[in-house]
Amino acid sequence: MKGRITVLCENTVGRRIGFGEHGFSAFIETGQGNYLFDTGSGHSIVKNSHELDKNLRTIRKIFVSHGHYDHTGGLPEVLKLTGEVDVHAHPHVFLDRIHLIRENGKETKRFVGIPYKRRYLESLGAHFILNTNFEKVGKGIFLTGEVRRKASFEKPDPSLFAEIDGKTKTDMFPDDQSLILDTKKGLILILGCAHSGMINILNHVIKKTGKEKFYAILGGTHLDFLTPEQLEETVKVLTKMKIEKIGTSHCTGMRAAFRLYQEFRERFFYGHVGSTLEI
Ligand SMILES: [Fe+2]
Ligand SMILES: [Fe+2]
Repeated sequence: MKGRITVLCENTVGRRIGFGEHGFSAFIETGQGNYLFDTGSGHSIVKNSHELDKNLRTIRKIFVSHGHYDHTGGLPEVLKLTGEVDVHAHPHVFLDRIHLIRENGKETKRFVGIPYKRRYLESLGAHFILNTNFEKVGKGIFLTGEVRRKASFEKPDPSLFAEIDGKTKTDMFPDDQSLILDTKKGLILILGCAHSGMINILNHVIKKTGKEKFYAILGGTHLDFLTPEQLEETVKVLTKMKIEKIGTSHCTGMRAAFRLYQEFRERFFYGHVGSTLEI
């Protein structure tokens, strides 16, 4: 497989073009067509696609990593350009989700779920294909499906909740899925927020593909929102794995990105708006 991955939406801008926003999206060009992984929060995807010369009308499939607004908010703008298109996601992508903000002794609830109803997105052309298991979605392209939480140090974010059967529960994100490209260089893994834990995801991918050589990992790791101890445990395991390049974005945050740079040096890059990865 030959091609290129370009970060379309991300929190930071690094090439003097495009707009930053809280969110993530990657445009994937391959010999078999173009794909979109996530859509950002909706403020920058169309503008950035023009600036980066990526034609959203050419997208063959959309993959959604999970139901947070900063990955799904751009869906209407993209669908208005693609028309009818397959949208792959987990059934829990439509859950109502809450971020509980604790500041100065006060608690504030903020809605952070998918901002649009399924029917509205379908009226714009979305054909939802819902999966829970590891699934082949193209030649050499796979979705992880649900990732089991096995690493004892990978804890859920204590400020994120989901409404399940009328009850507010800690969000365990069964819908968190990542995309795998199986290339000659090795596996390329694209993460949304890695809510099920970066190490859990990598181990799941190794188990499902039977391969352990990662050419590159790109995307959000959520490490900035977790404890320093979890970051250190994650770094310890990552350095023992076969990873050629690591490109962090979005909810990785600066603290965790600097820490990963310390370990990976020339193998590290920051996946800001406009950064690319040759497949
Ligand atoms: Fe996110
Ligand atoms: Fe998220």
